[in-house]
Amino acid sequence: MSAASPPVPVVILISGNGTNLQAISDDIAQRQLPINIRAVVSNNPLAPGLMRARQAGLCVNVIDHRQFPTRAAFDYALMQAIDFHAPRLVILAGFMRILGADFIRHYLGRLINIHPSLLPAFPGLNTHARVLASGVGQHGATVHFVTEEVDAGPIILQAEVAVQPGDTVETLAARVHKEEHRIYPLAIHWLAQGRVRLHDGRTLLRDDPI
Ligand code: GRF
Repeated sequence: MSAASPPVPVVILISGNGTNLQAISDDIAQRQLPINIRAVVSNNPLAPGLMRARQAGLCVNVIDHRQFPTRAAFDYALMQAIDFHAPRLVILAGFMRILGADFIRHYLGRLINIHPSLLPAFPGLNTHARVLASGVGQHGATVHFVTEEVDAGPIILQAEVAVQPGDTVETLAARVHKEEHRIYPLAIHWLAQGRVRLHDGRTLLRDDPI
């Protein structure tokens, strides 16, 4: 990515609060990164993140999954909305729908997610409560490529958070979120620069031998 390169187009998918969306958008603005958030798409018309997106002056689009008879029909509509913007990266930021195999194959290598645990530990939902119940001392967040197996794609970047005595779901979640807001923009920057990519089912750094 040279100074003269056009900005890298990205689309961000949300379902909820959109604090990661906010962190990504703020980071691009503050560091003047050559990344262009072409659209924020939500499956949830009431997602608070839509307000954040509008306040940041971003183009928003709602594709309500409840309006579609099948998952495949929803995925197809979502794909059309995304492809309209020809993104180099599709960023899941608290997007709470499972995506079908065709969708994932279509964006393979361009589709990333952030998950609130140190994958492969604690895939799935309610990670903070499960971490506390398990008694492990380390928790965290993971940015990874999305592949067909949920929360199992090649890892791009992780941040660790120590579990403290007396932690509750809320206190632990708050510290994990803070790390998410640090590592997701960083990983996106690396991907936009071509420093990291998916190759043959694994994450490759630019200087890695193939
Ligand atoms: C984050 O904890 C992320 O790891 C998970 O969904 C949550 C989204 O939070 N995938 P927000 O909507 O970005 O605040």
